Amino acid sequence: MNKTLVTGGAGFIGSAVIRQFINDTACSVVNVDKLTYAGNLQSLASVSDNPRYRFEQVDICDAAEVARVFREHQPDAVMHLAAESHVDRSISGPADFIQTNIIGTYTLLEAARGYWNSLDGERKAGFRFHHISTDEVYGSLGDTGFFTEETAYEPNSPYSASKASSDHLVRAWHHTYGFPVVTTNCSNNYGPYHFPEKLIPLVILNAVNGKPLPIYGKGDNIRDWLYVDDHARALRLVLERGKLGETYNIGGWNEKTNLEVVLAICAALDELRPQGAPHNKLITYVADRPGHDKRYAIDATKLARDLGWKPQETFETGLRKTVEWYLQNTDWVKGVTSGEYQHWVEKQYGGNSAE
Ligand code: NAD
Ligand code: TYD
Repeated sequence: MNKTLVTGGAGFIGSAVIRQFINDTACSVVNVDKLTYAGNLQSLASVSDNPRYRFEQVDICDAAEVARVFREHQPDAVMHLAAESHVDRSISGPADFIQTNIIGTYTLLEAARGYWNSLDGERKAGFRFHHISTDEVYGSLGDTGFFTEETAYEPNSPYSASKASSDHLVRAWHHTYGFPVVTTNCSNNYGPYHFPEKLIPLVILNAVNGKPLPIYGKGDNIRDWLYVDDHARALRLVLERGKLGETYNIGGWNEKTNLEVVLAICAALDELRPQGAPHNKLITYVADRPGHDKRYAIDATKLARDLGWKPQETFETGLRKTVEWYLQNTDWVKGVTSGEYQHWVEKQYGGNSAE
């Protein structure tokens, strides 16, 4: 793919994908991002001067602007990551999730389809739209079993229901219009540049600052963790070699209870930042999340078998890298926690920086 249009490229996973494209390939990238509270161009500071990188501050719900971006940049592929992504926010305010995840995906699909129809020959035949989704669309598992690509959708939160809706739209655009799509459903990601409202960065930063480490309920809910760069590598592989119309589950075979995750972070910090040790004294059990899914676990056999993917990091090596990154990158953390990056964006790009 010579030029890929990445939506949500200023977010946690999108920025990892773009850094890989620029650093590890010869491809060009157009980053289409609205810059909500979760979008942060500082996560792209290491690549933003590269001539193969372009940024467009655009809301994917804005049909005219999205069509303009396709016309001007003439991409060979789309990787669609833009979304509202935090389950707790979807519970307290679902409207943005319906808007961006459903209406935004619909708007993007229609603009991409119009553009694809305008292409001819090899460019049309080679075009593809990669929709990036979550394992949360499958609902919750009991003590045993895994989510496969055949598992029925049973989303339980406003977030997962809105992502499930977007997956269905993408599927229907393939079935009805022959639009060339591929979809991936991944487990929980962790790693550098993760906005500190999610469990792992929140716990690292609270522990460093001597603040309580909130654990919902009993801490026995299970998530299946994947290091973000492993996810980004899997996404690039599926974009290049995935079969059109197929879906691929992505996961690292790393099931942990939330309590195990928090204890592992505390142990890493006890070693790397001994002044606050033992950090696990800060653990605080708080009220459970409404409708809290009990267990997620991905069966990633299809991706391994058909495309030869396997993760490079174990949970132990990935978590160690993550904790070290947050300890070393205090400027990024300060920018995010103080909201300063919004002023930085205004200076760089003028106005309308973030919500
Ligand atoms: P994120 O919240 O960190 O980033 C989302 C990005 O989308 C931000 O840069 C934001 O500014 C942008 N955005 C939001 N609304 C927009 C709009 N209307 N128009 C244009 N841009 C908009 O999310 P993330 O964790 O990087 O997740 C990226 C994608 O991967 C999402 O689709 C999510 O559902 C999916 N996913 C995430 C995980 C995870 O563990 N984080 C796991 C599996 C799948
Ligand atoms: P989160 O990082 O929000 O991801 P998701 O809800 O998409 O899985 O949460 C991961 C798990 O950690 C989830 O079971 C909820 C739990 N959790 C806590 O126990 N405390 C917290 O402060 C947060 C943010 C999450």
